[in-house]
Amino acid sequence: MGIGRLSDGLAPTPPMGWNSWNRFGVKIDEGLVRETAEAMVESGMRDAGYRYVVIDDGWMAPERDRNGDFVADPVKFPSGIAALADRIHALGLRFGIYTDAGMKTCQGFPASLGYEFRDARRFAEWGVDYVKVDWCHTDGLSPRACYAKWAMAIHAARRPIVLSICEWGRARPWEWAGTLGHLWRTCWDIQPEWSSVATILDRQVDLHSYSGPDHWNDPDMLEVGNGMSADEDRAHFGLWAMLAAPLMAGNDLRAMSEEVRSVLTAPEIVAVDQDARGVQARRIRGDGEGDVWIRELAGSRAYAVALLNRGSLSQELRVGLDELGFAARERVRVRDLWRRSDVGDRRGEVVATVAPHSAAVLRIAAY
Ligand code: GLA
Repeated sequence: MGIGRLSDGLAPTPPMGWNSWNRFGVKIDEGLVRETAEAMVESGMRDAGYRYVVIDDGWMAPERDRNGDFVADPVKFPSGIAALADRIHALGLRFGIYTDAGMKTCQGFPASLGYEFRDARRFAEWGVDYVKVDWCHTDGLSPRACYAKWAMAIHAARRPIVLSICEWGRARPWEWAGTLGHLWRTCWDIQPEWSSVATILDRQVDLHSYSGPDHWNDPDMLEVGNGMSADEDRAHFGLWAMLAAPLMAGNDLRAMSEEVRSVLTAPEIVAVDQDARGVQARRIRGDGEGDVWIRELAGSRAYAVALLNRGSLSQELRVGLDELGFAARERVRVRDLWRRSDVGDRRGEVVATVAPHSAAVLRIAAY
């Protein structure tokens, strides 16, 4: 962890939860959010580690009240935000909300420029545990100064609130955001398409050194269950876990298939994401058709390795154990984290046959 980075214990491992945007856009209301929170409990997602229920853009009324305070849309959220936060807390979950640092949100709703302290105070009164601050309509503003103001405003509101910085990676936030927020977007918005996942992945390649406990790179929220194939969903989820990415589900939790549920709750993949050491994976090889990503895990000489097939034909992918720092004749233990089964002992190299748009995620550890 670098000097000066946040280390307030609010996000010791990457935050996990659900956010309304990817699936629902601005079509959100309190019924949806309540049902989603209940589904998070019933589906086992809460127990798998998902905690935050976050409403994104579109929750606010078109105008502030006469004091200048934010007001929730009275049709979408007739019971108000504080009551909703209470319901979510009663389920053992945490509540998150969205605003924008500029003149308006990306969807044209009121935003927080000039209201940072007021809005942080109101969020704290409502019981907000997580705030995502977007970057639309910010012409001429300095992201560093604006997010510093947000960090101060949250501090002044005297409630522990995770700050999610959403500046899309334009001003290299990995170089400055770690002192201000707990996570920062590194890229434009994800889409539920393989090409989007692959493009975002390529943008993470040099960022591993900036991430760690309480300050995480955010390659955007999950599209698992939003239309990609099962293999693509697994590859996306597995690679996000390798990246120590915040795992914010973006699908309809009330109506997900068992297959989607099993991806989002895969215990040994989630455990990689949440590994206590908090070291983001780095890519040691990528030739366009296949990638090898490695991540050091807590414990003695243990690694997560992802072998990603980007091509359209099945292929054998391999990692040399010397690439992980093992000695030439050393015997290691290999486990398949999707199958949750031991592969056996290996020397020299580990080889896996990987289907197109799919990724094997292995744990390779010394004896
Ligand atoms: C931006 C953000 C998205 C989402 C939308 C809401 O595009 O990057 O994650 O919050 O705004 O309008």
